[in-house]
Amino acid sequence: MQDFELRNRHFDRLVNTPGLRWLGQNTNHYPAHPAVRDAMIRCITDEEFHAYAPPLGLEKLRSLVLADLGLPEMVPVITDGAVAGLYHVCRTLCGPGDEFLTTDPTWAWPMSFARAAGAEVVQIPIYGAEHEYRLDPARLAAAITPRTKVVYIVDPNNPLGTACTEDEIRAIAEIARAAGAYLIHDCTYRDFAYAHSLAAAHYPERTVTVWSFSKWLGFAGLRIGALVAAPDLMERLANAPPNNLGSNIVAQRGAIAGLEVKRAWFPEVLESQRRNQRKVHDAARAIPGLELPVFPSNGNFLVIECEKAGLRPEAICAVMARHNILVRQGSYHTKAFGDRFIKVSVTVPEPWVDEFCALLPKAVEEARGMNEPPQLY
Ligand SMILES: Cc1ncc(COP(=O)(O)O)c(C=O)c1O
Repeated sequence: MQDFELRNRHFDRLVNTPGLRWLGQNTNHYPAHPAVRDAMIRCITDEEFHAYAPPLGLEKLRSLVLADLGLPEMVPVITDGAVAGLYHVCRTLCGPGDEFLTTDPTWAWPMSFARAAGAEVVQIPIYGAEHEYRLDPARLAAAITPRTKVVYIVDPNNPLGTACTEDEIRAIAEIARAAGAYLIHDCTYRDFAYAHSLAAAHYPERTVTVWSFSKWLGFAGLRIGALVAAPDLMERLANAPPNNLGSNIVAQRGAIAGLEVKRAWFPEVLESQRRNQRKVHDAARAIPGLELPVFPSNGNFLVIECEKAGLRPEAICAVMARHNILVRQGSYHTKAFGDRFIKVSVTVPEPWVDEFCALLPKAVEEARGMNEPPQLY
């Protein structure tokens, strides 16, 4: 069977597994605010879904997105998840002969989109204590070339959990501007950061800010995100977007309600996920050889290094899966460093994290004996 079929069956199995503990995809499994559920149920009972939504998104949602990001001069477009927005930006901006410059690790899909558009992908390694698991702007300056069309920065970085400081993001923006490159600032995880600054404030004319409702609001299955850019750049992006008939209206109604209750609802989510981070940290540190290079994380996830414990990430994932717990192997994110770590997502009910922590010592022992872990995606 072809790999794409195997991959689909894998994810189909996951969504059809009752009671699966979703600690692998940075999704958010806390109960939604009742106002959010009600808004979506109202949209369905009123059968609003027979009509297309406006091409760039409901005006109310667009203005709430700008207000939340604090970018009043920019133009937002609601997309079918951040990933569809990234696809559109990469396919629009990149072409043969261009370079697409990003970090390693990064979020991998935009690299595939850039390659599919004919661009060459160049990665700057940031994994390892020698790099402090972050991008030093000086290394970006050294790597950027006249062919660099796009600089793609995931900030906070998935999977590492490091976030750029204000000085770093300003420097990154200035380096991109000096090279005439577009800057895609993927801020999917910004709401979980201890502090976060937007590159668009420093380089408004060619920065595309990418945001998602999957992680902070828990809407992964609803497929809704946003791109924000300056009017001139948006004119180009809005010319032939894949969702020119509008994005999911149910999701947009829910997202409006979500932004309206964010201040009341989200702080508890943030506190709980940080408690979960602490529990995962303590459980992992109690096992010789397991290390957490970035703690606390500015994302809703943690990297656990297992190399010094002599463990293969895929083996730990496979053992956890037998117990209905999904965690992610590092190779999903990076070929170069993927055999060093697993990633654990923590925007989940705290009892799920307790189960993970209780199982971890046994899982490590079982994983040691596993020579041929199954293929994972
Ligand atoms: C950095 C990053 N960008 C974008 C996405 C996709 O977001 P969405 O669910 O809104 O398509 C992810 C999903 O994991 C991600 O990690």
